Amino acid sequence: MSAPAAKAPFLPWNRPSIGKEEEAAVLGVLRSGWLTAGPNAAAFEQAVRDALGQQDAFAVSSCTAALHLALLAAGLRPDDEVITPSFTFCAAPNAILRSGGVPVFAEIDPATLNLDPQAAAEAITARTRAIVVMHYGGQPCDLAAFRRLADDHGLLLIEDAAHALHAWRDGQRAGSVGDLAVFSFYANKVITTGEGGMLVGRADLVQRARLLGRHGIDSSVWQRHGTRSTADYEVTVPGLKYTMPDITAAIGLKQWEKLPDFTAARTAIAAAYDKALAGLPGLTLPTVLDGVEHGRFLYPVLIDPVPGRDRDRVATTLREAGIGTSVHFQPVHRLATYRHTPHHLPITEHTAARQLSLPCYPAMTAHDVQRVIDALHALWS
Ligand SMILES: Cc1ncc(COP(=O)(O)O)c(C=O)c1O
Repeated sequence: MSAPAAKAPFLPWNRPSIGKEEEAAVLGVLRSGWLTAGPNAAAFEQAVRDALGQQDAFAVSSCTAALHLALLAAGLRPDDEVITPSFTFCAAPNAILRSGGVPVFAEIDPATLNLDPQAAAEAITARTRAIVVMHYGGQPCDLAAFRRLADDHGLLLIEDAAHALHAWRDGQRAGSVGDLAVFSFYANKVITTGEGGMLVGRADLVQRARLLGRHGIDSSVWQRHGTRSTADYEVTVPGLKYTMPDITAAIGLKQWEKLPDFTAARTAIAAAYDKALAGLPGLTLPTVLDGVEHGRFLYPVLIDPVPGRDRDRVATTLREAGIGTSVHFQPVHRLATYRHTPHHLPITEHTAARQLSLPCYPAMTAHDVQRVIDALHALWS
């Protein structure tokens, strides 16, 4: 009698790729005697700043921290409005509210699922102070159009580039165009430090953010550890504590070196999905615009509901087949904190009800990719 076929292990929606290099780097920091923000954080900041051609960079504890600091540095006055998509993660709208501002949700472009510059323009009022764009799934939004819009109206442009550390549009790199831009190194992101983030941008704004992210103290503990007396510090604003420890930054530096290879792996998986899933009725695959080098953080599909098959049923059936998926995103204006905000966002609502993110990450094998493809074909047969 033959043994029953072994069940394939669960394929999660995402899994980080951490190697011996990261392990060795962490051990090095642990043995160095310096655990908190120090030389590794400074080196990570310099690497990202130089790659983006931005004036300054501040490594922080999360992208949410970077967003909070960006909006505090923007110096919002009570009831200042900040235009942002609702089709995003709650981090930016929450940070806008926590910084004293009012999020104003504008509609997305139905092809790229990025904030629509025309819709953003129509949302501008006398109280608007900033626009927070988000590069959905790794495809940069219309950077040139948003830069123009911000300049024409004297607004700050902040890029939420949590999905787009390695993405370009018309030769401009995501994160290099805004007055400020933020990145995430959360466990599921294109590179990860477990938790972590980076704020980059104009020197005056990043310097203010750095001050606010270090208790309002005008020097780092690393600087004070050297020749300066530790008692020699001043608190000039009531700041918070958002710095990135060197343990984290050491992982980040190793992941940063791997970013081009990670993106190539994600791109190959996306190409395999594009080829194998094209033509399934009612399944819309991601649109990539000409002139875009996509970061491929997400592979988001849209599923038109038909009797017996809608987005949630597909997710459940894939889970039963041992395949994880995710949803990006529940529209923020539908979440309890935001339900009272005025909105008319039919494209966002129609998109969000049909969106599903397939697994797309460097740790996947060719066999994993084929499993996802076969499971989807089975669902459509
Ligand atoms: C678009 C976007 N912005 C911000 C964040 C927050 O990132 P973090 O978890 O590093 O704070 C996320 C997290 O998933 C995100 O998707």
